[in-house]
Amino acid sequence: MTAPAQAQAPLEVIFRRPVEADHASVIRVIEHWFGERRARPLASLSWFRHFTGTSWIAESEGGRLLGFLIGYRSPDDVRRAVVHLVGVDPNHRRRGLGRDLVDRFVADVGATGVRTIEAVSPPDARGAIAFHRALGFRPDDGPGTMRLYGTPATPDLEGDGEDRVLLIREL
Ligand SMILES: CC(C)(COP(=O)(O)OP(=O)(O)OC[C@H]1O[C@@H](n2cnc3c(N)ncnc32)[C@H](O)[C@@H]1OP(=O)(O)O)[C@@H](O)C(=O)NCCC(=O)NCCS
Repeated sequence: MTAPAQAQAPLEVIFRRPVEADHASVIRVIEHWFGERRARPLASLSWFRHFTGTSWIAESEGGRLLGFLIGYRSPDDVRRAVVHLVGVDPNHRRRGLGRDLVDRFVADVGATGVRTIEAVSPPDARGAIAFHRALGFRPDDGPGTMRLYGTPATPDLEGDGEDRVLLIREL
């Protein structure tokens, strides 16, 4: 006889704006969380100095990092905003934390007139693409795209061999 499944305790999460000290906490975990050696340069200190007004930290009551979102409104087009990075501790996934972080970002930028939110993902990052799709993002399938790993993507968008899916959510 198998033991009954243990119910997960409800997650107590505190949401706050990032401060510079969060940079160290994020780069400590980002390669593990993203499963990607090259993720670390994507979370450079500037994000924690200059983009805090539209970014979020999720932490436990004890101050342990549970998730983060770095995002911004486009300086070139005030109707557009970008989710630069969103990450959740692998031990706390599929409990709505990623969605909550994006919802908070949408509330931030939606209140300032943003109509379109963008994110990019490698085409083989199936979890990330499924997450964005679940939150109402759609892959751009316009000119220059082709199906890679089953998703419309732009080959070499970020340089040689760096194919990307451009994910767009209309507000
Ligand atoms: C992507 C990520 C942020 C999702 O965080 P999360 O807290 O697990 O997401 P949520 O629990 O809010 O998921 C919301 C919905 O997205 C979808 N989803 C999330 N992760 C998924 C996965 N791995 N596979 C398929 N669908 C997924 C589901 O529909 C989910 O709803 P459900 O759990 O009720 O089915 C997290 O997996 C992560 O940090 N991944 C590594 C970093 C990364 O790829 N970031 C995105 C690119 S910057």
